[in-house]
Amino acid sequence: MIVIKTGRDLEAMRAACRVARAVLDEVAAAVAPGVTTQELDDYAAERIKHYNARSAFLGYRVGNLKYPCHTCISINEQVVHGLAGPRRIAFGDLVSIDVGVYYEGFVGDNARTVAAGGCTDPVAARLLEATETALQRGIAAALAGNRVKDISRAVQQHVESQGFSVVREFVGHGVGRHMHEEPQVPNFVEPGRPSPLLRPGMTLAIEPMVNAGKPGVKRLKDGWTVVTEDGSLSAHFEHTVLVTEGEPEILTCTNQTSFALKVS
Ligand code: MF3
Ligand code: CO
Repeated sequence: MIVIKTGRDLEAMRAACRVARAVLDEVAAAVAPGVTTQELDDYAAERIKHYNARSAFLGYRVGNLKYPCHTCISINEQVVHGLAGPRRIAFGDLVSIDVGVYYEGFVGDNARTVAAGGCTDPVAARLLEATETALQRGIAAALAGNRVKDISRAVQQHVESQGFSVVREFVGHGVGRHMHEEPQVPNFVEPGRPSPLLRPGMTLAIEPMVNAGKPGVKRLKDGWTVVTEDGSLSAHFEHTVLVTEGEPEILTCTNQTSFALKVS
């Protein structure tokens, strides 16, 4: 069942997304060479608390594992779900920060990848650009009357046109009172697979995970960190988006005045 948000629930959803965005901005601004990923996660915990919110990731269960951090911090060949620890960020590292919070009973979820201190590797720069643009293309397809696969196709086509590949094992998702709701929002199209119709009031986390090399991924022994199988760089951008009667509303985009004017 896909939940349609209206009225007060939608206002709470907007508020949760504003908090998730604010925390992501703050943590992304703190990414710098020499900083440890634990310091970033501690800072995120402090900022989440400051907004009277709660991490949607801390304690999240998969099987009998519980996610141990407030955010996901995934560096270079790490795709998603990287764990905070003593690792020091180096100049040029691609650092993906994923922030999800509960606030007023709803979840806001967003992610961004930044190059620590600057980006001198042309492949890394193209990967960031391609992944962020793929997210924007996907959002632009989040129109009532379209299907989820129209989002998937827009993302996949842009990524592959740039010579990169989309991860298959992890997908975007509906988001609301729970972090993961229906429908799944894949970043690739499977011909013949039924795909739900988009309706006003649906809230979706659209999140391309893009590898510079092959699409394959594997999980590290820590049980969480997902890395590229071929060791190539990976990037991840995510917004929570509301399907409306008109243009999509990016809930994790503050001060959006028009889709055409949107900032990342
Ligand atoms: N944004 C991610 C997602 O949508 C983060 C989940 S991390 C987890 O799945 F640890 F909570 F699983
Ligand atoms: Co998500």
